[in-house]
Amino acid sequence: MTKLLGISGSLRQHSFNTALLKAARELAPAGVELEIATLHGIPLYDGDLEAQSGIPDAVTALKQKIIASDGIILASPEYNHSIPGVMKNAIDWLSRPPKDIEEVFSQRTFAVLGASPSGFGTILAQDAWLSVLRQLEVRYWSGGRLLVSRAHEVFDEQDQLQDERTRENLRKFVQGFAQFATRG
Ligand code: FNR
Repeated sequence: MTKLLGISGSLRQHSFNTALLKAARELAPAGVELEIATLHGIPLYDGDLEAQSGIPDAVTALKQKIIASDGIILASPEYNHSIPGVMKNAIDWLSRPPKDIEEVFSQRTFAVLGASPSGFGTILAQDAWLSVLRQLEVRYWSGGRLLVSRAHEVFDEQDQLQDERTRENLRKFVQGFAQFATRG
C-alpha cells in the first residue's frame, strides 16, 4: 500500500483546497491511500514559545503523519500572489528543530497543487513554494501540474468536484505522484 498525505493550506470548512484533496482521495488508484490533514491547532510560530514549551503537539502530530507517509501533497491556496501565511507558518514549525529537517523534509517526496476562484488557479503560489521546498531539500515531483482555476464553477454546493476534465487531471496527478513516491 502506498501511503500519501495531503495537507490542506486552508482552515475554511468549505475550502476548495480541502475539497480538492477529498476528491483526490476518492480518485486514488487501487493500492494508494490518501490521508488528509489540516492545519487546525497550529499556533503562530514564536521563538519564545518554542524555547519555553518546545514543539506544539499539533506540529508533532503532523510531523509523525509526514514521516509515516510515502509522499506529501500540499494543497495550497494563493493569497496575494503567493503562499498563504497559515501554510508557511506550519512549514516553518515543521522545520524546527533543524535536526528534524532531514527526516521531515529532505528524505520525503512532495508535490504541490491548488485551487482558486481566479482564472490562474494558484500558479504564483505554486511557484513560490519551489524556493521553500528547495531550501528544505525535498524530493519534489515536477511531473504533474494541477492548477484548478474558477474553483467555484468546478465544485458544487456540497464541495463535490463536478468537472470531468478536472477529475481526470486529478486522477492522473495522484497516480503519477504515487508512482514517483514509491520509485525510491
Ligand atoms: C485571496 N484569493 C486569491 N486568489 C488568487 O487566485 N490569487 C490571489 O492572489 C488571491 N489573493 C487572496 C488574498 C487573500 C487575503 C484572500 C483571503 C483570498 C482568493 C482565494 O483564492 C480564495 O479565497 C480561495 O477560496 C482560498 O482557498 P480555499 O480557502 O477555498 O481553499
